[in-house]
Amino acid sequence: MSNLTDRIIVVTGGEGLLGKEFVSHCRQAGATAISADIHCKTDLDKGTVHMDITNSDSIRSCVQEVQKKFGALHGWINNAYPRTADWGLPFEKIPPASWDQNVQMHLGGYFRCCQVVLEHMKQAKTGSLINIGSIYGFEAPDFSLYEGTTMTMPAAYSAIKGGIINLTRYLAAYYGSHGVRVNAISPGGIFDDQIDTFVKRYEAHTPLRRMAIPKDIAPAAAFLLSEDACYITGHNLVVDGGWSL
Ligand SMILES: NC(=O)c1ccc[n+]([C@@H]2O[C@H](COP(=O)([O-])OP(=O)(O)OC[C@H]3O[C@@H](n4cnc5c(N)ncnc54)[C@H](O)[C@@H]3O)[C@@H](O)[C@H]2O)c1
Repeated sequence: MSNLTDRIIVVTGGEGLLGKEFVSHCRQAGATAISADIHCKTDLDKGTVHMDITNSDSIRSCVQEVQKKFGALHGWINNAYPRTADWGLPFEKIPPASWDQNVQMHLGGYFRCCQVVLEHMKQAKTGSLINIGSIYGFEAPDFSLYEGTTMTMPAAYSAIKGGIINLTRYLAAYYGSHGVRVNAISPGGIFDDQIDTFVKRYEAHTPLRRMAIPKDIAPAAAFLLSEDACYITGHNLVVDGGWSL
C-alpha cells in the first residue's frame, strides 16, 4: 500500500460508490482524508465537508476550512458525479439544455475545483490532484452491451470525460514548474448490481473477466497521491481489467 502518512487529502463526491473507497483507502494509508460532498454536512472531526463542485465559493470555503483545521492540503481527488434527472437519454432525445447543464456541472465543476485547488497548491509549491476520467473519455462505448436493457452510455459522458482527461494534460503542463502534479485515473465499469445480461456481456468483453469493484481503483489513486509518483504528471492511469485493450 502506498504511504500517505500525514497527508491531508480531499475527495469530492466522497459519499458515493467510488468516493467512499477513496476516503477509506487513503485513511488506511495514513492520510487524513476528507469527503467533500453535496450530500453531507460539515463536520471536520468526522472528516466531512458540505461542498458543491459547481460553486467556486463553496470550493474556496472547503479549502479554507480544511487549511484552517489541518494546516495543509496535499492531495485532492475530483471524483464527484453531478448529473441531471434525465441523464441517460438516447442521443437523439437529449434536450440541448440538459446537455449544457451536464457539461456545466461535471466538466465545469472539475474546472472550478482545479482552478481553486491548483492555485492553492501553487502557493504551497507542492500538491497532487487527480481527476477521475473513464474509459469512455478515450474510447467509444460498445452499444451491444446495452441491447434489450434500459441502460445506455450517455453522449455527454464521453464529451465530459474526454474533456477532463485532456484538461488534466493541460494543467499538468501549466502547473508542473510549481511542483504541482495533475493526473487522471480512468476506471472501467464498476459493479453496482447492474442487471445480469449487462454484467455477463461486460465480463465477456473484459480480459480479466469481471467488472471492477471500488477496491480495484482506490490503490491507483493512493499511488498517484503519494511520493512514489513524484515524477508522474499528466498521466491517464487506466484501471479497467484490460477492457480498452
Ligand atoms: N461507477 C462507475 O462505473 C464509474 C466508472 C468510471 C468512472 N466513474 C467515475 O467515478 C466518479 C464517481 O462515480 P460513482 O459511480 O462513485 O458515482 P456516485 O453517483 O456513486 O457518487 C457520486 C457522488 O458525487 C456527489 N455529488 C454529486 N453532485 C455533486 C456536486 N455538485 N458537488 C459535490 N458532490 C456532488 C454525490 O452526492 C455522490 O456522493 C465519477 O467521476 C464517475 O464518472 C464511475
